Amino acid sequence: MEHMLQKIREAANSQLEHADSLDKLNEIRVNFLGKKGELTAVLKGMRDVAPEDRPKVGQLVNETRTAIEDALEETKKHLESAAREARLKKEVLDVTRPAVKTMLGHRHPNTIAREEVERIFVGMGYEVVEGPEVEYDEYNFEKLNIPANHPAKDEQDTFYINKNILLRTQTSSVQARVMEGGKLPIRIISPGRVFRSDEVDATHSPSFHQIEGLVIDEHVTFADLKGTLAEFAKELFGPDTKVKFRPHHFPFTEPSAEVDVTCFKCGGKGCRFCKGEGWIEILGCGMVHPHVLEMCGIDPEQYSGFAFGVGLERIALLKYEIDDMRLLYENDIRFLKQF
Ligand code: DAH
Repeated sequence: MEHMLQKIREAANSQLEHADSLDKLNEIRVNFLGKKGELTAVLKGMRDVAPEDRPKVGQLVNETRTAIEDALEETKKHLESAAREARLKKEVLDVTRPAVKTMLGHRHPNTIAREEVERIFVGMGYEVVEGPEVEYDEYNFEKLNIPANHPAKDEQDTFYINKNILLRTQTSSVQARVMEGGKLPIRIISPGRVFRSDEVDATHSPSFHQIEGLVIDEHVTFADLKGTLAEFAKELFGPDTKVKFRPHHFPFTEPSAEVDVTCFKCGGKGCRFCKGEGWIEILGCGMVHPHVLEMCGIDPEQYSGFAFGVGLERIALLKYEIDDMRLLYENDIRFLKQF
């Protein structure tokens, strides 16, 4: 019997030596100490042992059980500490490695251009106001001297919600809203999104941005308009920039003009950038038509004013020498991060 117990102990020890996981350890425990284990089988054989030998054999069995349990416990500790060691090794943190940089976004070129124009006019005492993008025909056309069937409506074809409501084609719609408000004098700019039913190409998009300007007061003259826009152009494109007013027609201003600035690349001599012209067109403007003032409840005998409208994308494209408007809308980070 003693010999048998010795054998069991040795077998357990040799199996433990090769145990490489807690699962394996459990298996060994069951094999030797479990209900159907080898040691339990020996205990069951006690009835064949002579009664006087039973206490001694019982003690031997107990000793063997304790020895195997201790060995199991020992191996378990060993395995656990090895596992912890391996995990720590894997989790090593190298504090000297360079940090991963967080990607910081920045303003879109359109936004930079808009804020630049706002900065210039706010500096001259203008207020920035906003108007709705979904607008009544009345504000977008009627009150700007563009009645139903006027050909100007064809040039600014847009997206209609119904007969009277549309996506505005120009920020000029804000003019009528502000004038109707009745607070005089007026000195505002109004940046915002506008829409036209245009095909996308390098210079057109069905959705783009304008900045409108409007000044109404007593004794406002064309000279004020010229001075204001000349100052604006210098601030935006550099102190040597000159402006040129070309006669034009807009239904809501009289007289009307288109304004060119000297090319800021060649200073007006003519280069590839200005296509040899020396001049670059940047906006439309004029003296607010007396009939428009009247329709908005302002007496044209007492008050006069000027207005202008700048294409924001045009400013951004010029300022950053971008040759295709589509780039501004594609949101390709490789393009945007250059500005
Ligand atoms: N709204 C005009 C356009 O989209 C631009 C414009 C011209 C605005 C003359 C004005 C203006 O306020 O006086 O073509």
